[in-house]
Amino acid sequence: MKIKTTTSGPKRVTTRTIAEMRAKRASIACLTAYDYLTARLLDQAGVDLLLVGDSLGMVFQGHETTIPVTLDQMIYHATAVVRGVERAMVIVDMPFMSYQVNLEEGFRNAGRVMKETGAGGVKFEGGDRTVELIRRTVQAGIPVMGHLGLTPQSIHQFGGYQPRAVTPEEAKRLTADAKAIADAGAFAIVLEKIPAALAKKVTASILIPTIGIGAGVHCSGQILVTPDVLGLYEDFHPRFVRKYAKLADEVRSSVGKYVKDVKDLGFPGPGESY
Ligand code: KIV
Repeated sequence: MKIKTTTSGPKRVTTRTIAEMRAKRASIACLTAYDYLTARLLDQAGVDLLLVGDSLGMVFQGHETTIPVTLDQMIYHATAVVRGVERAMVIVDMPFMSYQVNLEEGFRNAGRVMKETGAGGVKFEGGDRTVELIRRTVQAGIPVMGHLGLTPQSIHQFGGYQPRAVTPEEAKRLTADAKAIADAGAFAIVLEKIPAALAKKVTASILIPTIGIGAGVHCSGQILVTPDVLGLYEDFHPRFVRKYAKLADEVRSSVGKYVKDVKDLGFPGPGESY
């Protein structure tokens, strides 16, 4: 990733921009991206931060969970996304088992992502077990985003996609984890599928921004999975998703017309031939 030093073109969003937005209470708009073309459109539309989420395991690869996604696959998608972006900050999800074995391995893998993709930082899922890794990674100059609440890499442990931190004990633990992650130097924390009142309290208790997904309006910003927002992913529709388009219908109808034209010899026409 090139940090823009000239005055032409949009100014790149960095951790400093994100911190300034948090200080001014300007809401941060984030979405996921997995490929060059989509990343370019989302960037042009003004999204502040693009996450190359391991949700690609579900919405791109068709798996039931994010568990099968590999580090090489994340790097492949992240390089494509980075090529499409001029302004947004690009963050790459560290996939399952790329950082859980031990601190050294997680740290080295985060470095690999930074060196090979040109992204602006990485994201780790989890609470206290990630704190030392975050501290070490940030000390090495790698911006880190935390992720608490419904962390999809632990889905088998949770036993389903129900909201998290609904008991007072869990809420207390999440609040402490958020503080520890902020103290370790993370620049932001994703809060996924937790009660809005708890997200509000956590947001008020730390200085770094919280980015909510199913965590209510009082977070410092919001993130959604782009194929959900565009109405492309139809496998399930969580309550926290707002669909801004019905692209699946649009694609089926346009491609249906193309198929008909080909079969009826209506395409290509004289103006589309040499
Ligand atoms: O993988 C992902 O897309 C994510 C977001 C939903 C936060 O982690």
